[in-house]
Amino acid sequence: MRFLANLKCNHTRASFACYAEILDANLSSNDDVTVFPPFSALDLAVHKFKLGAQNFYPCESGAYTGEIGKAMLDEFGIKSVLIGHSERRELGEGEELLRAKFDFAAKAGWQIVYCIGENLSVNEAGGTKEFLAEQLKNIELGYERLLIAYEPIWAIGTGRSASAEQIEEILNFIREQTSAPLLYGGSVNAANIGAIAGIKNCDGVLVGTASWDASKFLELIRVVSHRYTSLS
Ligand code: PGA
Repeated sequence: MRFLANLKCNHTRASFACYAEILDANLSSNDDVTVFPPFSALDLAVHKFKLGAQNFYPCESGAYTGEIGKAMLDEFGIKSVLIGHSERRELGEGEELLRAKFDFAAKAGWQIVYCIGENLSVNEAGGTKEFLAEQLKNIELGYERLLIAYEPIWAIGTGRSASAEQIEEILNFIREQTSAPLLYGGSVNAANIGAIAGIKNCDGVLVGTASWDASKFLELIRVVSHRYTSLS
């Protein structure tokens, strides 16, 4: 089971240092954990978890005000990136830019966590599968370092996760199209992770809110691994 923490626009450099210290003290080297902190908190320390980038611009470097390119990420050894998160799509990232990012990241050999998901009205109209199939058309499903995160927009940050049945149905649908590991994201927490981890075709979770506090994130991992007895 893979655990990915999307810290979004949370944690300063100082608070992330404390966060990382708690994870390092409690994770085992077998845990498959990747944390996506804000860029300003990236560091060069050796951790028991991997570091990923929440975003990047598809360039090595150049005249792209406010963006971050491969040269800057390389300096921190970043080899894993999020693409297509609904919060980025909401800011205007369309299919063309997402494809450019995908191609750039694939050429760099990075692990790509590609996020897809429908909004509430599409879901309620029963159009989820068609919608996701369209989103998936934009990328190379055979890319060997691809992970797909199914994140229904209505479940992100709302405290209302999709049900295990809904997740299972959609992951089965995505599985028909690719052998890439599949993740679920959207209000994953310590109370629902047990059921989510048991879903066929669910290879991991992308966690937002419940990952921002290191102890809470460890708690969630603990439910699945049954390993941590007390947090140090
Ligand atoms: P959430 O966020 O866990 O707060 O719903 C998930 C995500 O945006 O990846």
